Amino acid sequence: MTMQKGCGVSILGLSLWRLYVALLPKPIAGIPYNHASARSLLGDIPGFMLAAWRTREPITWLLSQARATGSPISQIFLAPFGGRPFVTITDFRETQDILVRRGKEFDRSSVLTDTLGVALPHHHIVRKTDAVWRSQRRLLQDLMLPKFLHGIAAPNIYASVDQLVQLWGSKTEIASGRPFSPERDIYYAALDAVLEFGFGRNFTHRATQPQLDAMLKLGPEEVQKLRGEEAGSADTPVEFVNAPLHETIVAILDSGDIVEALQSSPFPRLGLWFQKTFTNFNKTWNTKNQFLEDEIRKAVDRMEKQDGEASDESWVMSAVDHIVHRERGFAEKEGRKADYWTPVIRDEVFGFVIAGHETVSTTMLWGLKLLGDNQDAQSTLRMALQSAHSAAMAEKRNPSAMEIAHTNIPYLDAAIEEILRCGPTVPGAMRECMVDTVILGHRIPKGTQVFLFNQGASFREPTLAVDEKDRSPSCQASAKERGVREWDPENMDAFRPERWLVQADGSSGERDGLVFDSAAGPTMPFSLGLRACWGRRLAYLEMRIMVTMLVWNFELLPCPPELSDYAAVDAMTHKPQRAFVRLQPVKH
Ligand code: HEM
Ligand SMILES: *[C@@H]1O[C@H](CO)[C@@H](O)[C@H](O)[C@H]1NC(C)=O
Ligand SMILES: *[C@@H]1O[C@H](CO)[C@@H](O)[C@H](O)[C@H]1NC(C)=O
Repeated sequence: MTMQKGCGVSILGLSLWRLYVALLPKPIAGIPYNHASARSLLGDIPGFMLAAWRTREPITWLLSQARATGSPISQIFLAPFGGRPFVTITDFRETQDILVRRGKEFDRSSVLTDTLGVALPHHHIVRKTDAVWRSQRRLLQDLMLPKFLHGIAAPNIYASVDQLVQLWGSKTEIASGRPFSPERDIYYAALDAVLEFGFGRNFTHRATQPQLDAMLKLGPEEVQKLRGEEAGSADTPVEFVNAPLHETIVAILDSGDIVEALQSSPFPRLGLWFQKTFTNFNKTWNTKNQFLEDEIRKAVDRMEKQDGEASDESWVMSAVDHIVHRERGFAEKEGRKADYWTPVIRDEVFGFVIAGHETVSTTMLWGLKLLGDNQDAQSTLRMALQSAHSAAMAEKRNPSAMEIAHTNIPYLDAAIEEILRCGPTVPGAMRECMVDTVILGHRIPKGTQVFLFNQGASFREPTLAVDEKDRSPSCQASAKERGVREWDPENMDAFRPERWLVQADGSSGERDGLVFDSAAGPTMPFSLGLRACWGRRLAYLEMRIMVTMLVWNFELLPCPPELSDYAAVDAMTHKPQRAFVRLQPVKH
């Protein structure tokens, strides 16, 4: 009797043990990992959650885990109960190879589809690289060409940045040397820029204009109130009041927040259900959709009023104009009726509003910090701008949109590239293995998610050793044909725009006659390859206009240390926890 019972218990014990073992993380052979996590049913999830809660930077924690293995390839257990490990890579050459040359093996990660795809199910960003992705990209084709960007988008974006400069002119006067937060103003300016790009000059609502109007209306008492009692304490930030925004703008901003919340949620579908059931979601989302539909209908009206040839594009003044024009062309070619208000067009248009303002403003906030903390680079940049825009200097005016878009200023290109490198707005790219494959000599099963960092080793820390024979054949071949890009290991982490400047003949040096070399060393803020950022040319244009106009008009003085750290929050982007500027007008 007792024996039998004992036997039963041990069989149960054995089965439980087996179950336990089956539910433990299953490391991929040969790839380094944290051994303590491999002994826990939840793997690295508790560490990840703890980092998310304590530092708000789970992605920075992920990078620190990769760093701890000392290997350019590591694995991490983020799927509970024996789910497949994630692989992380910190090595520019292999990453570039995967993104640029091995697109068939590595496609868009389904993690993005399961998170971002909940709010934006029809946007091409969440699709694998298939025929549908291609057709949606054809709809957007040409929007990133100079003809559209310089001819149509640049003057509009410039107009909205000009308002930011005026707004900061007033704020600088009121703050008289005290710091203030640039965050909301930069977000609003970037939103205005993308609205200008998307819907054109005639679009009636803006975020910055109401702020400027409110600022100009302030009476002396209100100004005194803003300055506060402690006007004497030069390091206390001034807290400016936000003027109310039109409900359309509010709905766009709130929809962006919803997308961000769902994307960063561990259970996005549940999150969406929760939002729909218990929050203002329906109202916000419907207002947002109504606005998009109205803008598309207006574009169709404008198109139909044109009496020129169907192919005549001269009426196109915004991205939605362009999209409806292309849809009409495709419909004609395919012999079907054009359909302008589809879930695809809705999500594509909403997508660039979201992708466009969140990323650019985060990068600008890092940029303001970096320029404030690197006074030498900032003065060099200002002198470069002043000598290149000599007519504007002589006439004591701002450089025009066309001057900014068309003047070659190597140090400006270098500063923007360095801001993108050091302000890691998007710290890497994610791919899913579509087949069983090999990375750095290790077999990786189909379905594995691979996180490719653009931070850490070989980007901002010395490259880790890799045996050349462990590299993929295409990676080895490319090195033989084109050589290998590497930074000088000294000061890889420092903000040094000079690293992007080389002699016109290709040699690097500190003398005059330097040109900007976008391939001076490893960087990939927009990722690489076919699925890299679609909007990068617009992002560069916006940054170019914003950086020029702000540095032209304001000196960014250093902020007190407690306001100028580099702590971040990982949400849709990796953004500063605290951003402050202390401004002084530049005298021309
Ligand atoms: C400084 C600003 C920006 C940064 C740092 C940035 C970064 C990125 C990154 C890292 C990706 C992922 C690429 C990959 O997985 O390989 C991406 C994708 C994308 N970005 Fe950006 N982006 C910026 C601005 C913009 C703007 C202004 C737009 C649109 C107006 C935009 C639209 C997109 C789209 C549509 C994709 C998806 C492309 C695809 O899946 O084929 N981005 N971006
Ligand atoms: C903007 O609106 C005005 C008046 O409503 C119109 O005359 C003009 O053609 C419009 N411009 C564009 C680019 O749609
Ligand atoms: C929002 O709309 C959904 C249907 O799309 C509905 O089921 C839900 O009850 C609505 N929520 C609220 C709070 O009205």
